[in-house]
Amino acid sequence: MSAHPVIVAIDGPSGTGKSSTSKAVAARLGMGYLDTGAQYRAITWWMLSNGVDVNDPAAVAAVAGKPEIVSGTDPLAPTITVDGTDVAGPIRTAEVTGAVSAVSAVPAVRTRITELQRGIAAGAPAGIVVEGRDIGTTVLPGADVKIFLTADPEARAARRSGELRGTAPGAPDLAATREALIKRDAADSGRTTSPLAKADDATELDTTELTLEQVISWVIGVVEDAGRKQPRS
Ligand code: DC
Repeated sequence: MSAHPVIVAIDGPSGTGKSSTSKAVAARLGMGYLDTGAQYRAITWWMLSNGVDVNDPAAVAAVAGKPEIVSGTDPLAPTITVDGTDVAGPIRTAEVTGAVSAVSAVPAVRTRITELQRGIAAGAPAGIVVEGRDIGTTVLPGADVKIFLTADPEARAARRSGELRGTAPGAPDLAATREALIKRDAADSGRTTSPLAKADDATELDTTELTLEQVISWVIGVVEDAGRKQPRS
């Protein structure tokens, strides 16, 4: 499609359809897929499993280089391991979700994970869709396509709650999910080091009233347009 493998950055808060959209776009366009939230969750899981006080930034920073985090980038079967252990399930627990904003605000953690992300993107032969909070602003500011997804908090909470009920019996109700989501957004947007933010050159889409399929089609349109504008090899 273009002279070099295309890099697509998709940022936004949780519940906007970011993960489902990113995976589907990557699969349909034959590209790789990277869930950067899973990497922050993985390092958080390791901290909790090793008794590190996640509310002590110095303690977290001191060991940020220890765990080896490996992400598999097949959009049809993405994987995540820590020191060789599959943590795809454990990183979705309420305990990890409750601690991930504190761990991911520590600059040493962000430096470490950002390096990993840049290496994976640079080594993706067919291009890659990278989803997160700071991909367009900080991790891959030169990305070919930058998209920022938003949605009303009510819509986001309803989607998250539906997802959680599907995977975790006894999941929190809608009001609790909404409260936790707003708290996590505030922490992710308010941190000093590379907060959740829209890049100036990102295209924003409000997904509140849209179906997943509509969002996927819109993103594919933006990626294909960008490919057409690039010089051909
Ligand atoms: O996308 P998610 O909800 O799985 O992300 C979990 C947390 O990871 C999120 O609350 C903030 C952090 N995160 C981040 O700081 N930077 C990213 N690029 C992706 C996620």
